[in-house]
Amino acid sequence: MVKAFLDLPPLAGASGTVRLPGSKSISNRVLLLAGLAEGTTRVHDLLDSDDTRVMLDALRALGCTLQEQGRVLHVTGIGGQLRVHEAKLFLGNAGTAMRPLTAALAVLAATQGGVFELSGVPRMHERPIGDLVDALRPLGCTITDLGTPGYPPLRLSGQAGGRLATGRAIRVRGDVSSQFLTALLLALPLVAQAADVVIEVEGELISKPYIEITLNLLARFGIEVRRDAWRSFTLPAGSRYRTPGDIHVEGDASSASYFIALGAIAADGGAPVRIEGVGLDSIQGDIRFVEAAQAMGADVRGGPGWLSVHRGRWPLQALTLDCNHIPDAAMTLAVMALYADGTTRLTNIASWRVKETDRIAAMAAELRRVGATVTEGADFIEVTPPVTWQAAAIRTYDDHRMAMCLSLAAFNPAGVPVRILEPDCVAKTFPEYFDALLGVAHARPESVPVITVDGPTASGKGTLAAELAAALGYHLLDSGALYRATGLAALEDGVSPDDEAAVARIAATLDLRFDGGRTWLRGREVTDTLREEQAGMMASRVSSLPAVREALHGLQLAFRRAPGLVADGRDMGTVVFPDAELKVFLTASAGERAARRHKQLISKGFPSNIDSLRADLEARDLRDSSRLVAPLKPAQDALLLDNSALSIEESVERVLAWWAARRPFEAVERHPKG
Ligand code: DC
Repeated sequence: MVKAFLDLPPLAGASGTVRLPGSKSISNRVLLLAGLAEGTTRVHDLLDSDDTRVMLDALRALGCTLQEQGRVLHVTGIGGQLRVHEAKLFLGNAGTAMRPLTAALAVLAATQGGVFELSGVPRMHERPIGDLVDALRPLGCTITDLGTPGYPPLRLSGQAGGRLATGRAIRVRGDVSSQFLTALLLALPLVAQAADVVIEVEGELISKPYIEITLNLLARFGIEVRRDAWRSFTLPAGSRYRTPGDIHVEGDASSASYFIALGAIAADGGAPVRIEGVGLDSIQGDIRFVEAAQAMGADVRGGPGWLSVHRGRWPLQALTLDCNHIPDAAMTLAVMALYADGTTRLTNIASWRVKETDRIAAMAAELRRVGATVTEGADFIEVTPPVTWQAAAIRTYDDHRMAMCLSLAAFNPAGVPVRILEPDCVAKTFPEYFDALLGVAHARPESVPVITVDGPTASGKGTLAAELAAALGYHLLDSGALYRATGLAALEDGVSPDDEAAVARIAATLDLRFDGGRTWLRGREVTDTLREEQAGMMASRVSSLPAVREALHGLQLAFRRAPGLVADGRDMGTVVFPDAELKVFLTASAGERAARRHKQLISKGFPSNIDSLRADLEARDLRDSSRLVAPLKPAQDALLLDNSALSIEESVERVLAWWAARRPFEAVERHPKG
């Protein structure tokens, strides 16, 4: 389900281990190189994200063979010879696919003949590519602007047998995006057979560490580039891509920055935040974020493939830093600045303005929203921490880094929650980001929001609760399942449902596991068995035993974890979570509930009689509401919802509207995609 927002409760600390997904920059370079090379490359630990998916689709369209074997991707390349001469490639918002594919297909079309159209999402069509086109045209590449000149979409075409003017140096500007130089470095070995090809950079080259990654990976694929300072690069005659066989993708150093910051902000006392997959030996430039974080006070240790971070100085040290060498990770410093003891100034970051969004403007706007004082200029940003923190709904501008960065505002000392709008944008580079974050960050239980949904059997609580949890990205507690499982286990052990002490012992040591909508009891899957009438009847009996309810109490409380919980049952609002922020009591007429249950049973092929179902339901209602312990009744502060005449969607919408009214966030219009 696409979530409109994710609310992070105030977070209080962090410790534990995260394993980072593969680097986007390395993944897409490796994929392109493997796709152009001869032979099969086995790519290990590849990033699986939006940006790599568009590259994979492009390679497939160009005739490369891709085979997944376990966690290893086997890529058989085209060996520098076009197999497909016409293709339309959609590249989403992946600069790391658009720029190098433009260069590679331009030179291949110009020499081997072909027509290729490259396009992306609307934002991709606002990201400049003119400097690369200007470098390729004098070579003899035919590049047609299909939209605004200087921006994608583009058509690359040419005739077989065409020749390129590689005799003189190819000039490219280096001061807008280093990806233009990377694109040429990755593409021109294709046409450097007969003579050296020289690339000269005009203007100051920015983001040099990304060029280092490119050179490093070219070397792995058999191309030894000679470099004269950062001005001129020579691809030697006879260049030919050769697969290295196996290649491992490091964890993403830019993604590591969020967890380094997390450790610096929240790993105080106790265990550190440990990061695996990227370490001090990384070839990625953003690993130098470590030094910047240390300068702000982080206590970072590390070795090959790992980092370990504690809070050091606190509050963090405000500083002024030239961030040209870490353009992406520097965004994380802007958020660390919220926790510093003065004004932090990040300079030389003009490239932020041509990324997924105008990141200087976006960062300034969203940091102000949480209460910070921000000054922005053409190529700098200055951040002073909030005096008063605000509970803010953060716009993410379809920019994964905005979402990941601003999530760190949830550690604010004021204890206000943070709403991240359209959080799924993290899929660009780190689809599991929020799970990873909440796997190591903790909230105090009392600050984790809970919605309770209580009500009688077959009122549709389970469905409503599951839909609410999915819409909000919250955990789900189906407390009935705990009683059902206890009943089943008692049955299995031959324990009478009236033997209170024995059943309570079973409940206290219940080996029950929930995962992706399925349930295991004592290692055996019981998802369907739990829903059967027999389990329901057993549950109704064992749930009237006080010692059993007591035994299951702690287990239920343990479900209250960030970002939040939706709990359904009979006494969620009255006994287990009396402080829940929203309590719903769901009812429907006995006739309606019997009819629904009847329909459900018939659809599963079980014969059933609607009148006896209704009689059963009424008997169960009576027992649940007249028992002495935790009888079924609405909490005093519960909102009643009779859904007899409502569809599931209508019920969900009604409750989400109640929920919205209780949250401290202002209502926002959806940010248009693109
Ligand atoms: O919601 P359900 O049908 O799965 O619940 C099964 C039985 O467990 C039902 O008879 C009531 C009991 N129950 C309870 O007493 N307290 C809860 N929190 C949940 C269920």
